[in-house]
Amino acid sequence: MRLILLGAPGAGKGTQAEVICNTLNIPAISTGNILREAKANKTPLGLEAASYMDSGKLVPDEVVINILKERLKEDDCKNGFILDGFPRTVPQAEALDQMGVEIDRVVDLEVPDEKIMARLSGRRVCEKCGSSYHVLYKPTKVEGVCDRCGGKTVQRKDDAPETIRERLEVYHAQTEPLKDYYKKTGKLVVVEGQEEVADTTALTLKAVEA
Ligand code: AP5
Repeated sequence: MRLILLGAPGAGKGTQAEVICNTLNIPAISTGNILREAKANKTPLGLEAASYMDSGKLVPDEVVINILKERLKEDDCKNGFILDGFPRTVPQAEALDQMGVEIDRVVDLEVPDEKIMARLSGRRVCEKCGSSYHVLYKPTKVEGVCDRCGGKTVQRKDDAPETIRERLEVYHAQTEPLKDYYKKTGKLVVVEGQEEVADTTALTLKAVEA
């Protein structure tokens, strides 16, 4: 199964990818996570990406396309994968086509903008292992401490309110056109993403298995 998860920032792509990759036994590939790791390690890629990410802008297409091209060459992608956060522009989708990658399903997680602010401003991530939480919807057992590895949980820099607004604008202008792009291929399935996480997972798996 080669699956793309589309959706606004905070629509729950990462949350769903984490659950579904275990169910389908395929890797979840998040370009956001790859870029954040490069940023944390201060690699040339990370240093280049940092200013775009921190201000809520997209990293240039050629940079992310190269990252994805290399990642898809790895062995664990042979039986399929979940793409979380890629493609994010029409040129990225075209590049995926040009790589000869046959996508089976594109699931678009729909969550209204009004809900996004509450989700992203309450998100906390572990600075050590990257696990994601929410102060209200998915709190850690001990405040500020990751359940999985004991690391410190912090707010992502791009989850500041003004940056969330910028990310939403970028999403509507540059990523939303992908819904039409994939609608034309007959592979797009729209899934309600504003209810409980488990409900969205059930709908996503149903869409994938159809
Ligand atoms: P990326 O990390 O991909 O950020 P994003 O798309 O903005 O997505 P998020 O991680 O914010 O949201 P999500 O949909 O995964 O939601 P989550 O499940 O965490 O990218 C970051 C940056 O990297 C970009 O801005 C850009 O600069 C760069 N970048 C990455 N890919 C790129 C590309 N292809 N091209 C160019 N630039 C790129 O959920 C959010 C919160 O809500 C969590 O706290 C969660 O617990 C909670 N939640 C989830 N589901 C529910 C639910 N059903 N009910 C209640 N709460 C929920």
